[in-house]
Amino acid sequence: MCSKTLILVLLLLPVFLAASPSSLVEATNFFPLAKQNCMDRCGNVAIPFPFGTAENCYKNKCYFVTCNQTQNPPKLFMQNTSHEIIDISLSGHLRIMNVVAYECYDVKVGSRVSFRNSRRLNLPPLLTVNATANKFTVLGCDTFGNINGLRLNWSYYVWCTSMCFSKKDLEEVSSCGGGVACCQVNIPKQVSTVDFDLGSYTNYKNASQYNNSCGYAFLVEENAFQFSGETLNNLRNVEKLPVVVDWVISNGNCEEAKLNSTSYACKSVNSDCYNPMINIHSYGYRCRCMDGYQGNPYLDNGCQDIDECQDPVLNNCSKVCKNTPGGFYCTCPSGYRGDGIKGSRGCIPGEPFKYKLVAGIAVGILIVLLVILFIYVRLKRRSWAEEKQRNFVQNGGILLQEKLKRLENNTTKFIYSLVELQKATNGFHDDMIIGTGGFSTVYRGILEKTNKVVAIKKNKLEVASNQTDIFTNELIIHAQINHKNVVKLLGCCLELRTPLLVYEFIGNGTLLEQLHSRPRNLICWDIRLKIAIEIAGALSYLHCEASSPIIHRDIKSANILLDDTFTAKLSDFGSSKLVPIDKSHLSTMVQGTIGYLDPEYMQTSTLTEKSDVYSFGALLVELLSGKKVLSYDRPQEETNIAYFFLSKLRENSVFQVVDVEILGEGNNIKEQIIQVARLAEVCLNMKGEDRPTMKEVILKLEGIRRGGRAQNEDDDHDHDYVPESESFTFDHDYVPELESFTFDHYYVSELESFTF
Ligand SMILES: *[C@@H]1O[C@H](CO)[C@@H](O)[C@H](O)[C@H]1NC(C)=O
Ligand SMILES: *[C@@H]1O[C@H](CO)[C@@H](O)[C@H](O)[C@H]1NC(C)=O
Ligand SMILES: *[C@@H]1O[C@H](CO)[C@@H](O)[C@H](O)[C@H]1NC(C)=O
Ligand SMILES: *[C@@H]1O[C@H](CO)[C@@H](O)[C@H](O)[C@H]1NC(C)=O
Ligand SMILES: *[C@@H]1O[C@H](CO)[C@@H](O)[C@H](O)[C@H]1NC(C)=O
Ligand SMILES: *[C@@H]1O[C@H](CO)[C@@H](O)[C@H](O)[C@H]1NC(C)=O
Ligand SMILES: *[C@@H]1O[C@H](CO)[C@@H](O)[C@H](O)[C@H]1NC(C)=O
Ligand SMILES: *[C@@H]1O[C@H](CO)[C@@H](O)[C@H](O)[C@H]1NC(C)=O
Repeated sequence: MCSKTLILVLLLLPVFLAASPSSLVEATNFFPLAKQNCMDRCGNVAIPFPFGTAENCYKNKCYFVTCNQTQNPPKLFMQNTSHEIIDISLSGHLRIMNVVAYECYDVKVGSRVSFRNSRRLNLPPLLTVNATANKFTVLGCDTFGNINGLRLNWSYYVWCTSMCFSKKDLEEVSSCGGGVACCQVNIPKQVSTVDFDLGSYTNYKNASQYNNSCGYAFLVEENAFQFSGETLNNLRNVEKLPVVVDWVISNGNCEEAKLNSTSYACKSVNSDCYNPMINIHSYGYRCRCMDGYQGNPYLDNGCQDIDECQDPVLNNCSKVCKNTPGGFYCTCPSGYRGDGIKGSRGCIPGEPFKYKLVAGIAVGILIVLLVILFIYVRLKRRSWAEEKQRNFVQNGGILLQEKLKRLENNTTKFIYSLVELQKATNGFHDDMIIGTGGFSTVYRGILEKTNKVVAIKKNKLEVASNQTDIFTNELIIHAQINHKNVVKLLGCCLELRTPLLVYEFIGNGTLLEQLHSRPRNLICWDIRLKIAIEIAGALSYLHCEASSPIIHRDIKSANILLDDTFTAKLSDFGSSKLVPIDKSHLSTMVQGTIGYLDPEYMQTSTLTEKSDVYSFGALLVELLSGKKVLSYDRPQEETNIAYFFLSKLRENSVFQVVDVEILGEGNNIKEQIIQVARLAEVCLNMKGEDRPTMKEVILKLEGIRRGGRAQNEDDDHDHDYVPESESFTFDHDYVPELESFTFDHYYVSELESFTF
């Protein structure tokens, strides 16, 4: 009994080593082998799908196996036969225990006796005996054996003879194949049924002289059987030996199988199909998991990623192993470099060369970019500086500088750089805008050095370059107008295509705003009269006392600025015209603001100082009535307040037009109001000739202010305003004309104005 077990173990040892069924059993802990609710092992044998012990567990009848649980350990059988299966592998093999047949010479009977006659092996379709792994083996000293059966649908027959000729044969023989005492032959491919038989030429009589009167025949996995002379005596106790059987899916190759996705057996993702016998078209195909995956490719999601990092054999990383789907890679921790592979470069302390290279390139690119940027900025700045200089020259800056030098000992700064004005206005920020006109924007600015608040006018239109000399003269003229009721031009900047003008800043807005703001700012009669006198003074100065007569051409409340003490300042000489000394009038394109615009000038295009007088008349009406000169919101006859005023004046009901606010100031000013109204009437005369000069106007106004009630009522419809010499005080301070300037041409600035 003891020796029997010993030999079995001895014989089968290589089988278990090669088959390693335990690996599949272990693997079932990690991934499913069988379908759900199906037996996935029988004793020590794993039952992977397509095999199964029940109808819905196997793929088809070919893979049907039974497990006899009453045995200990339970045993697995092919179909419902007595062929025990000791191993099923997903690589397409299984092992069946097949019978070892033998015969012996029975001395008592005087003939041979045969044992173990159930030698037939019938494999289901799709299962075939492996032709290379198995050998048909015949043992004995006077024995022959044959194996036969079906190969596909035809027969095969293989014969083998084993003889001994001396006792020594048995002592010396150590392996099968020499033809002594043992014979082994291959069987054909694709064998599906096996039957074998044995016999003896002398009924083992001759064999008995070697003390060996038995013969054996069996099919066995070559690796599972090792022959020696001893075997011949002991094999009688070995009932069965393993045979390798191959299994495939269907009868067709992969390429065909893939065409029908419902019948295609490689169900898992990351699975693949292969043909085990490439040359035999109809042999069938098998499935396998792709590299880096393991599991059962015949089940949905059967193939699962192998965590190579957990596998001491696959993981050849020296430090850090990272698993990826279907693979892994080695890295080094920070502070190390190398490929991280054990036996290769591994991980060596030090910064990775790769990163150094990348960092070097990045720094290089950065430097190149910085250099390019630096050069670009330099070029840009230079071209910007060049452009500023070009504009300065084109705008007549050099001429202006020279002329300014010749002016007295002019120490006050007049030419400002663009940078200074940009700083003053916070880069011409929108928050600094205090007014916008049709063609220009006025910014409030604070000059850096002096902290002086100024108004900076930036034109939106470009000035044609051939007008720059003219423009320069205009600048100088305005600079000379040094009258306390004219906004002072403090300087300019010539570095843009169109020069910027810097004016003194007047903080209380325009007369237009003050008169017509809502809620209304009440301006009392005295102030209105004062404003009228101041503007008349400024105009009179422009017309007569400036070095060359200047016609403002755009007198209106919007162009009269008020400071904190309601001192009026005439502004916006954008439309102004210089009148050459030898001329009394100019022919120009009609320009001005409707409502204030002289109708005679409109018809004849002939500009004289009297046009300003008309506009001043309209301004007087505006001051009297407190109403805008022109408004389409009013009844039609009142649209132009000047016309309406004149008609009411002629009806002797002028107070209907006068501002109720000033009427409420008392009766004592009514006389003054009437006199101013009469003055306005003559100023608004249709014929320019019949209008008084500004000098006459100012004298009249001064007279009215000093005591209008004393004024002679007879003068009413008389246009002759002879100044009373004692009442004439000229309290306007102005700078005397600068003789050094001659104006041989005049300039019309089209800026900021209304052009018909
Ligand atoms: C299972 O094995 C026992 C013991 O060898 C045997 O008696 C029984 O008939 C077997 N059952 C099947 C279903 O083969
Ligand atoms: C077992 O095999 C016999 C003979 O091949 C067959 O008639 C019988 O149906 C089989 N039993 C099962 C359960 O398959
Ligand atoms: C037969 O077995 C050998 C060795 O195990 C193997 O290489 C071969 O692929 C098998 N044949 C088939 C058809 O599986
Ligand atoms: C074997 O089967 C094939 C087709 O399956 C057939 O053509 C052939 O004649 C058969 N051979 C024999 C010997 O029956
Ligand atoms: C059997 O043995 C005898 C003598 O030992 C010999 O003469 C004879 O040829 C042998 N027969 C065979 C078939 O080997
Ligand atoms: C032959 O067999 C007998 C009985 O089995 C045994 O006693 C004897 O020792 C054997 N002789 C040799 C040489 O093996
Ligand atoms: C695909 O296989 C299924 C199942 O075997 C079968 O019912 C079906 O007819 C096949 N389809 C084609 C196009 O061959
Ligand atoms: C490390 O293992 C991988 C995967 O097993 C293999 O491809 C590679 O060649 C191995 N490298 C070394 C150096 O052994």
